[in-house]
Parts: sequence; C-alpha cells; structure tokens
Amino acid sequence: MKALVTYYSETGNTKKLAQAIYDGLTINKEIKPVQEVENTEGYDIIFYGFPVQAHSVPPKAMNFIERLPRGQKTAFFSTHGSLRGGMLPKQAFEHALSLAINANVLGHFGCRGQVKAALLEALIKKPEHKAWAEEASSASGHPDEHDLADGKIFAAEIIAKMK
Ligand SMILES: Cc1cc2nc3c(=O)[nH]c(=O)nc-3n(C[C@H](O)[C@H](O)[C@H](O)COP(=O)(O)O)c2cc1C
Repeated sequence: MKALVTYYSETGNTKKLAQAIYDGLTINKEIKPVQEVENTEGYDIIFYGFPVQAHSVPPKAMNFIERLPRGQKTAFFSTHGSLRGGMLPKQAFEHALSLAINANVLGHFGCRGQVKAALLEALIKKPEHKAWAEEASSASGHPDEHDLADGKIFAAEIIAKMK
C-alpha cells in the first residue's frame, strides 16, 4: 500500500501537521508540498492538507482537490485559528468535500494553527471580526505536541479503515 501526504501551507502550520501524519504512517509513503506533485496516479491513499481561510479551502489549494483521480481514496486535514470542534472549521471541510467531485473521501482531521500577527492585528480593529480575532489569538503555539499526536492517530485510523 502506498500513501502520498501533500499539503498547501503558507506559514508552516499545515506543513507540521503533514509531517506528523506522514510519521504516523507505517506503509510505503511520500511527502511533498502540493506545488511539487506532478502525478497523482498510483497512490492507494492521498492525505491532503490546507489552512482554513475565510472558512473555506484557500483558492490556491482548490485545484488539487478538483483534479483528484476518479475514486481516489483521500483524507483531508487542515489547521485553523478557530477553536477545534467549532462550526467554522467544519465549513471548510464541507467546502473541500464539495470540490472533491471524483474522490472517495474517507475522513478529515483539523487542529488549531497559530495565526500570523499581522492578520490578527488588522482584524481585531474591525468590529465585525473582533470576536473571531480574539478567539484565534489563543491558537498561539499550535499545532502543539497534542495536536500532532492526534494527527498521527488520524493517519493510522484512515489506514485501518482501508483494510
Ligand atoms: C488570509 C487568512 C484567512 C484566514 N481565515 C481563517 C478562517 O476563516 N478561520 C480560521 O479558523 N482560521 C483562519 N486563518 C488562520 C489559518 O487557518 C491558520 O493560521 C493556519 O494554521 C495557517 O496555516 P499555514 O501555516 O499552513 O498557512 C486565516 C489565515 C489567513 C492568513
């Protein structure tokens, strides 16, 4: 069995989670940023990660999902500033699912990721974004060791589902 772990990451959070997922796999595996993926054929499972932006998959990360081969077993992962388990990060997975018209999506995993200071400073000044910016401020230090351990478990659970 062969796995590809690939990701789009702007500030390194999703890359860290990708590495943990990769480390959690005990099968034949590859890891690379999505920009370096030339061929998506020949993988039994593709793990694909992105940062949540505007409660969605970032535009630059969408194309890969749309191009997944027909029937491709896929698992999504993301990092986000919002609290884990909330409705907003879930919306981004729903967005990913709606883009994955061909793929066979087996699951998804999300954890918090530190939000860059410039964005928080800009949003905290805007009344309509203040509450979110305050919530997202507490993502500082994430993904942490617990998030990464959970990511590893997620990887193993997806493989178990395939057997
Ligand atoms: C332009 C922009 C928009 C964002 N929008 C959201 C959002 O809607 N919800 C959320 O939870 N986090 C949001 N974030 C925070 C990122 O999802 C979070 O910091 C993520 O861990 C970044 O991952 P990366 O380092 O892999 O790029 C946003 C960040 C940026 C830069």
